[in-house]
Amino acid sequence: MAMPADTNQNGDIFGGWLLSQMDIAGGIHASKSAKARTVTVAINAMTFRKPVYVGDVVSVYTDTIRTGRTSITVSVEAWVQRRQESDLLLVTDGQFTYVAIGDDGRPYTVPSPSR
Ligand SMILES: CC(C)(COP(=O)(O)OP(=O)(O)OC[C@H]1O[C@@H](n2cnc3c(N)ncnc32)[C@H](O)[C@@H]1OP(=O)(O)O)[C@@H](O)C(=O)NCCC(=O)NCCS
Repeated sequence: MAMPADTNQNGDIFGGWLLSQMDIAGGIHASKSAKARTVTVAINAMTFRKPVYVGDVVSVYTDTIRTGRTSITVSVEAWVQRRQESDLLLVTDGQFTYVAIGDDGRPYTVPSPSR
C-alpha cells in the first residue's frame, strides 16, 4: 500500500518509490527465470500514465519479453486499486533488463527458456 512516507512535495506518491517496487518485482521474476542472482542493467520505456495516491493498493505484474545469453528483459506493469473502488487501473509500465551474475559478479549464462 502506498503510504504517506512515500509522497513527493505535491502529496502524490513519488515516482521513485513506484519505480523501486517495479524494479524489485522485475528482479524477482528475472532471478527465478535465470536461477541466479541478477542485477538491473537498464530501465527502458518507463511511462507514468496516472498518479498513485496514498492508500492505493499497488500490484505489480511481470512477464519475460526476451531472454538473451546473460540478460533477461522483463515487461513490468504497476496497477492500483484506489480506496473505496474495485476497478484496477494501469498506472505505470516499463521494460527492465537484468543480467544474471555469478559469485564473481561477472555475467552468467542463463538457462535457455525451452529447458
Ligand atoms: C550488469 C553488469 C555485470 C554487466 O557487465 P558487462 O561487463 O557490461 O557485461 P556485458 O557487456 O557482457 O553485458 C551483459 C549483458 O547485459 C546486456 N546489456 C549491457 N548493457 C545493456 C543496456 N544498457 N541495455 C540493455 N542490455 C544491456 C548485454 O547486451 C548482455 O546481454 P546478453 O548476454 O543477453 O547478450 C555490469 O554492467 C554491472 O555490474 N552493472 C551495475 C549493476 C548494478 O549495480 N545495478 C543496480 C543495482 S541492482
